[in-house]
Amino acid sequence: MTEGQEASSEEVSESQIAVHWREEKYFFPPAKFIAQANAADPDIFEQFSEENFPECFRAYADLLSWDKYWHTTLDTSEAPFWKWFVGGKLNASYNCVDRHLATKGNKAAIIWVPEPESADPVAITYTELHRRVNEFAALLRDFCGVKTGDRVTLHMPMVPELPVAMLACARLGVIHSQVFGGFSGSACGGRIADSGSTILVTMDGYYRSGELIDHKVKADEAVEAARKEGAEVDKVLVWRRHAGEYASQTPMVEGRDFFVDEVLSDYRGQVVEPVSMPAEAPLFLMYTSGTTGRPKGCQHSTGGYMAYVTGTSKFYQDIHPDDTYWCMADIGWITGHSYIVYGPLSLGTTSVVYEGTPNYPDAGRPWRIAERLGVNIFHTSPTAIRMLRKVGPDEPKKYNYRFKHMTTVGEAIEPEVWRWYHEAVGKGEAVIVDTWWQTETGGFLGTTLPALGPMKPGSCGPMALGIYAVIYDEDGNVVEAGSGKAGNICIRNPWPGVFETVWGQPERFVDTYYKKYCKNPDSKDWHDWPYFAGDGAVQAADGYFRILGRVDDVINVAGHRLGTKELESSCLSVEEVAEAAAVPVVDDVRGRAVEMYISLKPGFEASKDIEAKITKAIETDIGKIARPKNIWIVPDMPKTRSGKIMRRVIASISNFTDVGDITTLANPEIVDGIRQQVRSTKEARGDAPRELTEEEKAEIKNFGTE
Ligand code: WTA
Repeated sequence: MTEGQEASSEEVSESQIAVHWREEKYFFPPAKFIAQANAADPDIFEQFSEENFPECFRAYADLLSWDKYWHTTLDTSEAPFWKWFVGGKLNASYNCVDRHLATKGNKAAIIWVPEPESADPVAITYTELHRRVNEFAALLRDFCGVKTGDRVTLHMPMVPELPVAMLACARLGVIHSQVFGGFSGSACGGRIADSGSTILVTMDGYYRSGELIDHKVKADEAVEAARKEGAEVDKVLVWRRHAGEYASQTPMVEGRDFFVDEVLSDYRGQVVEPVSMPAEAPLFLMYTSGTTGRPKGCQHSTGGYMAYVTGTSKFYQDIHPDDTYWCMADIGWITGHSYIVYGPLSLGTTSVVYEGTPNYPDAGRPWRIAERLGVNIFHTSPTAIRMLRKVGPDEPKKYNYRFKHMTTVGEAIEPEVWRWYHEAVGKGEAVIVDTWWQTETGGFLGTTLPALGPMKPGSCGPMALGIYAVIYDEDGNVVEAGSGKAGNICIRNPWPGVFETVWGQPERFVDTYYKKYCKNPDSKDWHDWPYFAGDGAVQAADGYFRILGRVDDVINVAGHRLGTKELESSCLSVEEVAEAAAVPVVDDVRGRAVEMYISLKPGFEASKDIEAKITKAIETDIGKIARPKNIWIVPDMPKTRSGKIMRRVIASISNFTDVGDITTLANPEIVDGIRQQVRSTKEARGDAPRELTEEEKAEIKNFGTE
């Protein structure tokens, strides 16, 4: 075979694979749910039809309180940098807090559930939230000197001080950048430097699986890591998990580190006027992994984002002010920003914030919380559902809670897992929305309208109102619904929640999301700029989409996006490592796990010690969530003749699937040896993967082929 043929066999794309799966039966929403739903009139589809775009999104924006109404719903003059509700002014903290004071001041805005079960939940009323947000805003402004447009990095666990800090920033028009608390200090430092923050807000410690974790230590690492990139942090604000006690081993640095509770005493009772922000002013940054390079800071707007999360919280989460809503995600991810903080609080409901792990101290914990607090809307991920099903399949029925509505988000959910969620957790009474979306998209893209669309296990459903999706093959031809073929899912139109740009890298924004299917780069017409989501998908004849997973080099572990490049470059920082390749392995709880393949520099021998160094490097650079399930130190990597590591081959070995054609490799003879090494170890440990589904096989077969 020639080089040319070799390349084409490597480039089998997602879109060329026919996907076969069993069609699932519909489940219909219960009459009781329909009777009370926010969106129950099918005329709504007409209201959001393409002829009514973009004005249809007025309905979402009108749920907000504007200081100044906008004049242009959608400005496309700098395509694809869309601007929504131009001319409008508003403040996000006003919308989430102040506007509820007159009617709901004494109602709980947040109920915080500490992980230790001996500690009672803490209710924070809207009045109390207002006081806390104002005091912290005063501190940020007067003690830290931050101004509208500055960036502040938050590296906070799941405590009420996190939404307080976010809303305090929003009040000042300061752009917050919350880094997931589980990320390492070094990962946080990189994000501080990228965003240009000079203030870091953190906490001394928090509870996770029964342990009080030292979190402040990560702040010291973050400041160091930022400094290496030339960024200086002026102040580290440290909240204390237990008033008056310090949960960390690391000293407070004089002149840099301050206990928030001590400094706050100077700002008691202060009120800060919310700064009226233009609709397109950035509200926050959220970093996420992509195909190449460093994580990207997705910049979300104030007006468009707030309109979109408020509208979708109302129609898709079916939130009413009297509901008690619990989203078990972490606020450090986009799900928590949109659907724990901004959407629910904008609607004036009660949002539950839980500090710890779902199965601590046992798998009955979530259901006890739901029972005690009267939660009636529940929102979580397939990973959490799989885990709770595995460790406590009969737990939900022991508790007397009733959900009217449940959400799944972050990964594809297997139909059997969906059915357990429906029957066991939802007790057959709750509607389910399977919501497909991304950090970049601000809010839901794919989902059923809970009272109006039947559910189909494993499919997210059609697109949300005002979202017009299409599946393209690699050449930009439309892949028709019902064709049984998969392709790249794209959104043809802009929508208010879409992020505005990649912070500081506008070219990367255009290249990653809009270049692939752009019909004319000079066009100012949105029709020419489909948004490329980076997911493979297939559409059934009934219009329902099934999402197959990333088409780029991103591995989705428990709903967390890990970039293979980030994992690999972390391994390469270990002295002995010559080459590294990250591949996904199917995992029954976390969806996917990461396995690393490593080759060493000449003169080094494989050892447990080197494996430990690699794990440590990944934990330090990214965080414990990225810890590989296995590290395989191999004599050499399977490579093409042009020297490219064949990730699909090693991914197949890890998953015990067919490695496909390897005759074109430069070194096909090494494949058997690696296979034996991996197989025998996994079999000896009883860790052989289960038989993969057709879609999973397709994903593995294509992994890293771009
Ligand atoms: C995946 C999380 C299948 C998808 C909100 C997407 C899903 C990536 C679903 C975004 C779902 C998210 N079904 N896959 N319901 N939801 N994904 O940015 O691959 O953390 O591109 O946003 O998760 O992950 P992110």
